[in-house]
Amino acid sequence: MDLKKYVREIPNFPEEGISFKDITPLLKDAKALESAAEALFELIKNKKVDKVVGMESRGFFFAPLLATRLNAGFVPVRKRGKLPHQTISEPYALEYGRDVLEIHVDGILKGEKVLIHDDVLATGGTAKAVCKLIEKLGGEVVQCNFLLELKFLKGRDKLSGYPVEALIQY
Ligand code: PRP
Ligand code: MG
Repeated sequence: MDLKKYVREIPNFPEEGISFKDITPLLKDAKALESAAEALFELIKNKKVDKVVGMESRGFFFAPLLATRLNAGFVPVRKRGKLPHQTISEPYALEYGRDVLEIHVDGILKGEKVLIHDDVLATGGTAKAVCKLIEKLGGEVVQCNFLLELKFLKGRDKLSGYPVEALIQY
């Protein structure tokens, strides 16, 4: 299935000069949704995974679908102040300024093997911060897995040392 056909490009969103990759057409089509989940699973299915970590917001679409296929648990990484229990945090760069990502201290146990999933790999700043959170808790990142990769932003360079897989490239 050519999943790229289900990604809609929205010019000048959220700001002038940005071509936003809108995956809602893919999400609302039952066959495309299932096909994307299955294809993302194919990228990791031969590795042992204890936890799938997805990051707020758009990482939440597929991370739990991957977790059930891998017989793994799902752990959310959220933006500052959203998680109710004790957290650790990691700052990351945004286009303008910085924000903070958080994970519950008991989300990952020492030695657990972790798959990171997000919808888009752009500069890699978000995923790199999540790698750091997982490692601070003693987890091991076995793959960073994305639906879309914006190659011209060179996110793979920021994630050097980690296995990176993406289904659709731009
Ligand atoms: C987008 C996207 C990725 C991140 C990729 O999330 O969903 O999480 O940016 O960018 P990077 O590789 O340059 O870090 P965003 O922060 O816009 O928030 P959202 O998922 O809540 O929409
Ligand atoms: Mg996001």
